[in-house]
Amino acid sequence: MKPKKEVNRRFFFKQAALAGASLVTAPQLLSQPFNSSLSDKFDRKPTELPTRKLGPLEVSGLGLGCMNLVSGTYNPTPSKVEMISHLHKAVERGITFFDTAEVYGPYASEALVGEALKPFRNQLTLASKFGFEIENNQRKGRNSRPESIAKVVEGSLQRLKVEAIDLYYLHRMDPNVPIEEVAGAVKKLMEAGKVLHWGLSEVSPATLRKAHAELPVAALQSEYNLAERVVENQILSTCEELGIGFVPWGPTHRAFLAGRFNEYSRFDPLDRRSQLPFFSEVGFLKNMPFLQTVRKWSEKKEITMVQFALAWLLAQKPFIVPIPGTTSPQHLKENLGALQVKFTPFELSEIRKEIESFSFHGVRLADSAFQDQ
Ligand SMILES: NC(=O)c1ccc[n+]([C@@H]2O[C@H](COP(=O)([O-])OP(=O)(O)OC[C@H]3O[C@@H](n4cnc5c(N)ncnc54)[C@H](OP(=O)(O)O)[C@@H]3O)[C@@H](O)[C@H]2O)c1
Repeated sequence: MKPKKEVNRRFFFKQAALAGASLVTAPQLLSQPFNSSLSDKFDRKPTELPTRKLGPLEVSGLGLGCMNLVSGTYNPTPSKVEMISHLHKAVERGITFFDTAEVYGPYASEALVGEALKPFRNQLTLASKFGFEIENNQRKGRNSRPESIAKVVEGSLQRLKVEAIDLYYLHRMDPNVPIEEVAGAVKKLMEAGKVLHWGLSEVSPATLRKAHAELPVAALQSEYNLAERVVENQILSTCEELGIGFVPWGPTHRAFLAGRFNEYSRFDPLDRRSQLPFFSEVGFLKNMPFLQTVRKWSEKKEITMVQFALAWLLAQKPFIVPIPGTTSPQHLKENLGALQVKFTPFELSEIRKEIESFSFHGVRLADSAFQDQ
């Protein structure tokens, strides 16, 4: 693992200003918020956040999910200038762990992350993912054939502007390729110095064990939050036993736990949530009462609902590093507040009783933990 140097303040602002300047080409943009907000903050130091271990990797206790920064999964595609500034602010606030994938965009999220974070590369852990076929800029089926992995990594390296990817995940298991072969292909990339650590996403405990036996796995990334808790069925315990870190995606349950919606909320057909039973009319009616629990606990702890949702995840295991996918600097700041929250064992057992007594609509079945998704 590379040593994590402290982000030097002068270096940060100089490099950030340079990176920003290369972006802003239209004259009318030159005096706009990007540069002025940087100079306003000149006195602030990049914050040091508490860190956590994902296997051998040490990263900030919260990462930043970079899927929504480009593709508009839940929101209209944000402006590139704003998202570059957002990524710089994330570094300034102490985030050292950034999550992307070839398929986000496709390609555009990796390219954005690579461009924005190039100046700080040595201080950061960049994670990306492979395993989908992409044709005409559209995501197609799965493809983890060794020859495909050897090819697609080159594109990811180029877009991320790195010599080696810190953490390279198999995004989804390809049913046609045994995990041993995938591990073998990644091992070759490690031997060639193109990948430093590897991970998997949404696999069963059995696949995780086989993968780890072939080539030690640093992290598993799967969906986990107060509402979606399938990974508590032997997946987290397998990570703990094998010393594998766990990265929950969807930690706010796609903003549900933020209390942003009510039973009248409906989504644009292009919004991923419009296709999910949890967010349907029936789903909202059945799931919305759970927010009373989230609201009650957040008031009790004097924190926001999202902070409660993230802090609860952090409290489950010390090797958990959530990656909320915000496009908003304000939300990012709010989310980082979760790192300061502590629960007593009594509080955790009370919360556990309350969440387990609630029956959610549109969540995964417990047994799905044993299938690769
Ligand atoms: N491995 C996988 O298969 C997989 C699948 C999906 C995602 N991921 C990764 O995991 C990351 C996170 O997952 P996700 O984006 O699906 O779920 P998420 O982080 O639970 O939800 C993202 C949504 O939450 C909102 N949000 C975040 N912080 C908020 C706050 N403080 N207040 C109000 N709303 C807030 C965001 O809106 P704003 O932008 O307005 O803040 C966005 O709409 C992704 O970015 C991606 O990197 C991995």
